[in-house]
Amino acid sequence: MTQLSTPFTKLLGIEYPIIAGPMFLVSDENLVTAVSEAGGLGAMPSLNWRTTQEFQAAVRAIKGKTKKPFGVNLIVNQSNLRQHPDLDVCAEEKVPLVITSLGNPKEVIKKMHAVGCKVFCDVTTLDYALKVQDLGADGVIAVSAGAGGHAGPISPLVLVPFLKKHIKIPIVLAGGVATGEQIAAALALGASAVQIGTRFIASKEAKVDEAYKKAILDADPEDIVMTKKISGTPAAVIRTPYIDQVGLELNPLEKALYRYPQTKKYMKMLRYYIGSKALEKAASGVTWKTVWSAGQGVGLIEDILPAGEIVRRLVTECSETIQRLNA
Ligand SMILES: Cc1cc2nc3c(=O)[nH]c(=O)nc-3n(C[C@H](O)[C@H](O)[C@H](O)COP(=O)(O)O)c2cc1C
Repeated sequence: MTQLSTPFTKLLGIEYPIIAGPMFLVSDENLVTAVSEAGGLGAMPSLNWRTTQEFQAAVRAIKGKTKKPFGVNLIVNQSNLRQHPDLDVCAEEKVPLVITSLGNPKEVIKKMHAVGCKVFCDVTTLDYALKVQDLGADGVIAVSAGAGGHAGPISPLVLVPFLKKHIKIPIVLAGGVATGEQIAAALALGASAVQIGTRFIASKEAKVDEAYKKAILDADPEDIVMTKKISGTPAAVIRTPYIDQVGLELNPLEKALYRYPQTKKYMKMLRYYIGSKALEKAASGVTWKTVWSAGQGVGLIEDILPAGEIVRRLVTECSETIQRLNA
């Protein structure tokens, strides 16, 4: 198959510039292994396992199934009470790529570099990208408008070239990518790779209910709305009657409690707990409280495929697009 070599593929020693992004409640050992075995890089959040011990067992299971690089996402803000033990596991198991989100990645960079592993950090703004570059990050994930999860506010068409003008480390575009043509576009903008989430929910391996996968196939981009009801910060979900009923904004009491430093931390933890329970229920079975997390790329997804086949199709489409443009 075609070579798509970039600074990212060289840095990680993989074939294709495609990360299957870490997805809360969706990514597990099977999805990660399938993507990495196909030449991309599968990633998963450590919090998809109930304990640090179970997370470590999952990492070991992946290492038993593939020799290829894979990644783990660590949330590095106060709401994640497991960040230190989970980081210790990443360092002990020499997880090839750690992707940090939400907080300060300083300790992660130091610990993972000490064992020869790479760290990329989620960013939505130039200020934060400069900060993590100064801290020694190996690259950034440019989380753009349209992404699943905690999408950023800036269009990927602007965010990637804007970051590229000011930072030296590799940039991975995240947000709305579901086809190989878009990967070619991302590379043209100066990205070294793409991070794809939503497309991989519609994979055979994704460990979610079939109703969720079907909702991905049925949804159009305009069905994606941003709600603060899951974690306190805007997260992309498919609009359902339940989302319409609960609304997208925090209620006045929650807003007030978020404003005070004394209560903010606890509000974040409480909101995160309530939001993740709702996601968990909807991901694992039919419930009227439907909260399905997804990005605008839903509009481009028409089939549920094995994850390895998704990677191969993306690569073929990307290569054909580059050839077409060259011709
Ligand atoms: C269901 C879902 C759960 C996600 N969970 C996480 C997460 O736990 N940690 C993280 O860093 N990113 C998370 N993301 C973001 C993805 O890793 C990725 O950056 C994003 O999905 C890219 O946008 P796309 O969905 O448009 O491809 C999640 C995305 C989705 C759709």
